[in-house]
Amino acid sequence: MLRDSHGRPVDGGDWFVNHGTDVETRWEADVPHLTPNDRFFVRNHTEPPVVDPATWRLLVTGDGVLGERTYSLADLKTFSTTTYERALECTGNGRRLFADQQGAHRPGTQWGLGAIGVARWTGVPLSTVLRHAGLRPEAVQVMPVGLDASYVEDGVDHGRVRRPLPIGKALDDTIIAWEMNDEPLPVDHGFPARLVVPGWVGIASIKWLGELRVTTSVVDSPWNTRWYRMHGEGWHGSDAVLDRMPPKSAIDVTGPLEAGRMTVLRGRAWSGEASIRMVEVSTDGGETWDEATLTGANEPSGWVEWEHPWTPVRDGEHVLLSRATDSAGRTQPAEAPLNDDGYLFSAVVRHPVTVAARATPGRVPENAL
Ligand code: MTE
Repeated sequence: MLRDSHGRPVDGGDWFVNHGTDVETRWEADVPHLTPNDRFFVRNHTEPPVVDPATWRLLVTGDGVLGERTYSLADLKTFSTTTYERALECTGNGRRLFADQQGAHRPGTQWGLGAIGVARWTGVPLSTVLRHAGLRPEAVQVMPVGLDASYVEDGVDHGRVRRPLPIGKALDDTIIAWEMNDEPLPVDHGFPARLVVPGWVGIASIKWLGELRVTTSVVDSPWNTRWYRMHGEGWHGSDAVLDRMPPKSAIDVTGPLEAGRMTVLRGRAWSGEASIRMVEVSTDGGETWDEATLTGANEPSGWVEWEHPWTPVRDGEHVLLSRATDSAGRTQPAEAPLNDDGYLFSAVVRHPVTVAARATPGRVPENAL
């Protein structure tokens, strides 16, 4: 496969849809339960920085800690570590479907559903480091800052990629990770260390972490005001804030479909900060729904595989649908709430398939003679 200087496939190859600096995992490429590192979607605002792990230091600063401190990678590894399996999903995952399904094209990377992956992340709880650095009880948020170059758009320099994280989530299940699927983080995924903020919009999980600014007052950045916030009619105040991802589901590759022959439909479902309670499947475009069987791991902010047997009665075009309900009681809607930037496409996704006519029984194919 052709790759560019960052190791990314140039034409997308069999595993990715290429969106320029971003690449999307192909669902039809039969993704295993844990997304391999070299098949994990990439979303970079600029180019990944080259960081020497030997001299890399994490700076913890701000009026929310007693004093400024720096940590080397070796320092972080002396703390007791956490390993968990969690999804990372781009806020704009599914953006293309606003146009495809709701006639509402939205600007930005035209992701299908593949701006998500699930990996085993290893690192130190952010709470451990913050407490070690002397977290003050008055602290209300942490601003993680990436080491990639400042993001410039239309001649305006917005500074380094950074987004405020409320102290509650920072102290809950957020980690500073240095391993992805038991290997050092690949360069595209934040080497040598990144945040993993489970179940939240992907932008929260700042890569190439360089600094943590802990403050006793709320400080914004363009990544929670200008972008990664709901804009447009009807979005105000706390409703517009983007944090937890909604439940979603997808149908993986289906095998050859033939009228009268049973096939097993397979897919997966996921939700932010929740596990999956139920997946329903419709094979008639949404008229009727049946409950699918969930198989394997079903961790909050991970994903679960599902399967459902189907015997198509007739040949021709069909629309398959899957609909997830999570353990918090949220269900995928028929339409996703519109917003100017095409965030959080949460609606049930239409999956058109063609069923072949039943082969005539007993007939010997000509090429077998
Ligand atoms: N962190 C930095 N420093 N720079 C970035 O461009 N992109 C964010 C987030 N963290 C980004 C970042 C976005 S929008 C997403 S969706 C995730 O990283 C993507 O993580 P991945 O490329 O490892 O899949």
